Amino acid sequence: MKIAFADTAKAETVAFLVYKGANLPAAAAVLDKASGGLLSQAMTGRFSGKIGQHAVIVLPASATTKRAVLVGAGNRSDLDARALEKIGAHLYKSQANSGFAGLDVHVSGAGDAARLALGAKLAAYRFDNYRTTLKDDQRPSLTRLTIISAQPKAARAAFKPLDAAGDGTYMARDLVNLPPNDLYPESYADRLKELEQYGLEVEILGEKEMAKLGMHSLLGVGQGSVKESKLGIMKWKGGKAGADPAVLVGKGVCFDTGGISLKPGPGMEDMRGDMGGSAAVVGAMLALAKRKANANVVGLVGLVENMPDGNAIRPGDILTSASGQTIEVQNTDAEGRLVLCDVLWYAQEHFKPAAIVDLATLTGAIVIGLGHHHAGLFTNDDKLASQLTEAGLSEGERVWRMPLGSEYDSLLKSKFADMRNIGGRAAGSITAAQFLQRFIKDGVKWAHIDIAGVAWVEGEKSPIDPSWASGFGPRLLDRWIADNFEG
Ligand code: BES
Ligand code: MN
Ligand code: ZN
Repeated sequence: MKIAFADTAKAETVAFLVYKGANLPAAAAVLDKASGGLLSQAMTGRFSGKIGQHAVIVLPASATTKRAVLVGAGNRSDLDARALEKIGAHLYKSQANSGFAGLDVHVSGAGDAARLALGAKLAAYRFDNYRTTLKDDQRPSLTRLTIISAQPKAARAAFKPLDAAGDGTYMARDLVNLPPNDLYPESYADRLKELEQYGLEVEILGEKEMAKLGMHSLLGVGQGSVKESKLGIMKWKGGKAGADPAVLVGKGVCFDTGGISLKPGPGMEDMRGDMGGSAAVVGAMLALAKRKANANVVGLVGLVENMPDGNAIRPGDILTSASGQTIEVQNTDAEGRLVLCDVLWYAQEHFKPAAIVDLATLTGAIVIGLGHHHAGLFTNDDKLASQLTEAGLSEGERVWRMPLGSEYDSLLKSKFADMRNIGGRAAGSITAAQFLQRFIKDGVKWAHIDIAGVAWVEGEKSPIDPSWASGFGPRLLDRWIADNFEG
């Protein structure tokens, strides 16, 4: 959908925000009068101005516009970024299949206009490439949304960075939604290469190069797959030359069967999304590049496929990670940490990170603990904790801090090696984080975000989140960079 900003309405449909308990907005009054009061007449029955409500008014042929829409905007005093995004999303949804292509909506205030536009954009996401039988009337008719305000220039400027972040969300959703026969390490790497057009530097390492670096933990996970494992390295150099970069690390398990510790069949198809952490990182890098962020940021994604095979790693195998530490694999389904530990090590050996944030669909336990509305945040740095918590609240991608501690770390003891890759039944998300922390050097600021519960959501969803994949992460990371690394 094309989103534009203007100061006068031109489309066949024009929408107005109606607050709870309020009168028609001034902009609507003219049309109301010209139509003999049809607009105010629509504010009856159960239409109260609640968010999620709308009323469509077909106007007399004499009017300049064909249709008017009143969209519920909630209580005026509750109007914040979340509410505006929701209003934009509901407005989009209400008109998406109207049969009309153009929609204008009056919103005053540049910031509010931009937020509403972002909500509409996020709601307009589709993943239709694999449907071959969709008829025209099963596709949205709405293709143009124009936000009408007194300061279209300021609104357009305010939307620019949000638009970039939204593009990051779209990218992350696409990657997570893609089926594993089309998105595997090599094809994923090709997609990363395409991001060079936005000014990112992209480098891809294959298995040979990773073996040279001793990344036998990551390589062990990919060993049962016919697809070659890859490490994707993306650099955005928008900050001062030589300034330490923020480093983003993502788990990119393109499909997680569990390996020899095979997962049960039902629901296994969801593991197409087990690269959601990497998708968050890639989406964030795209957002940063698109809005030309004033910061140095490195994105690293470990891309593998976890398959059972005659050549797959076994429970009992001992892997030597790039850090030199040895790992007894007790469960091949705890593969994400095996990938991340080598990528985290790479981050510290090749860059001087101002901070490292990794994202991963790491544990089922975090879904049990936090459900689908917060990601789990683990960090060795209180300041980083508040930065990420704040960034999450600002963008509606919330994180909730979870504990780390040496008592949990002891659960990783192995009879044979430096550690084992599982900690037992208790505190599964924490022991996974403890495992990762063993690969963080002293003094390095690090946060781990377990997004297993938020990367995709089944069933009832927020209106800004229309597809299976939520695209969680790019907005959070982009905001964190914007608020803590730029001017
Ligand atoms: N990718 C899964 C975690 C996951 C589960 C993500 C559900 C999204 C939804 C991860 O690789 C995994 O299998 N973790 C195991 C760890 C266990 C074997 C210690 C888990 O959570 O069961
Ligand atoms: Mn697994
Ligand atoms: Zn996994």
